[in-house]
Amino acid sequence: MRTQVGIVGAGPAGLLLSHLLHLRGIESVVLEARGRDQIESTIRAGVLEQGTMDLLTETGVGARMRAEGAVHHGFELAFEGQRRRIDLTGLTGKSITVYAQHEVLKDLVAARLAANGALYFNVSGTSLHGVDTDTPSIRFTHDGEAQVLHCDFVIGCDGSQGVSRAAIPAALRNDYERVFPFGWFGILVEAPPSSDELIYARHERGFALVSTRSPNVQRMYFQCDPKDSADQWSDDRIWAELHARVDSSDGRHVVEGRIFQKNIVGMRSFVSATMQHGRLFLAGDAAHIVPPTGAKGLNLAVSDVRVLSRALDAFYKERRTDLLDAYSATALRRIWRAEHFSYWMTRMMHRLDDASPFEQRLQVAELEHVTTSRAAATAMAENYVGSVAV
Ligand code: PHB
Repeated sequence: MRTQVGIVGAGPAGLLLSHLLHLRGIESVVLEARGRDQIESTIRAGVLEQGTMDLLTETGVGARMRAEGAVHHGFELAFEGQRRRIDLTGLTGKSITVYAQHEVLKDLVAARLAANGALYFNVSGTSLHGVDTDTPSIRFTHDGEAQVLHCDFVIGCDGSQGVSRAAIPAALRNDYERVFPFGWFGILVEAPPSSDELIYARHERGFALVSTRSPNVQRMYFQCDPKDSADQWSDDRIWAELHARVDSSDGRHVVEGRIFQKNIVGMRSFVSATMQHGRLFLAGDAAHIVPPTGAKGLNLAVSDVRVLSRALDAFYKERRTDLLDAYSATALRRIWRAEHFSYWMTRMMHRLDDASPFEQRLQVAELEHVTTSRAAATAMAENYVGSVAV
């Protein structure tokens, strides 16, 4: 088999890159270890920055997002028994859309298949070869048959556990990592929304987040021990925790409903630099992880492949390699901005077991500041909607 761009991984980065390349007349093949059902049903985060929304719309895959996603113009910060609003649109002129990641994936898979895009699910034994030559290849097994895909470029979009990052020699790579000693317990609930906008809550018992999926389905999270098991938590215990952390003293409270999904996710920050080795380029979670507090993960994957698709276009149309050579540095500027924002928000909102009472009061002082100073609120809002220049 032969193609121009071989893409490992059919997550947001891999599928969107394949779609963007197709629109520029560049051929690609996407290889995915999981099945189509699995990628289309795995519950992940759901906040799309304005730039992500605009890109999906401009490239013809935004119709369902516009019909079914919810546009939000602000969010709330809950602390010390009260709620204060960050007016995203008033402060930045931009907004966000709450639309689940697996819905974005469904839309991208449908668009690729409608354009006869080559998408292979359930592949196994994927390995990368000759990525530091001009003739790289990918070996894999599909439907019981061993295959070799020859390509001009290999793009590793196979997440933090994939094979791609390991194909960059460790001696050429700097891995930067911070593992947080807590996780998020996530639930999906059949209930009306508890609030018109997302609520990020800081409480002595720990962080909580009230998000949404549709008028009838809500997504909520609360900080937990990452080693805890979701079965240890009865519905009553979950509601008690959410009420304690989110309900405000003016009587506004979390609306209960039938919990139909429970899961626990770990929290870490990670950056691999460089993101390029020869003809191998990393994008999305293969190169970086952010804790979900800033809602940046999916948006970073989108900005990586936006930069990469332009660089590949310049190569194929004008034989230019300067944009490809600059890819890692260009992408990393935005990645580090998002890493800082996610880390800052995580540290401000979570119960930190090593924090002294002094440091706990500093968290509250910081929340007071971002909710009373227009300058501080604007900085937070610009980071959240993704409009900071980097
Ligand atoms: C979600 O709806 O899943 C969600 C929203 C905001 C976040 C993280 C996750 O910061």
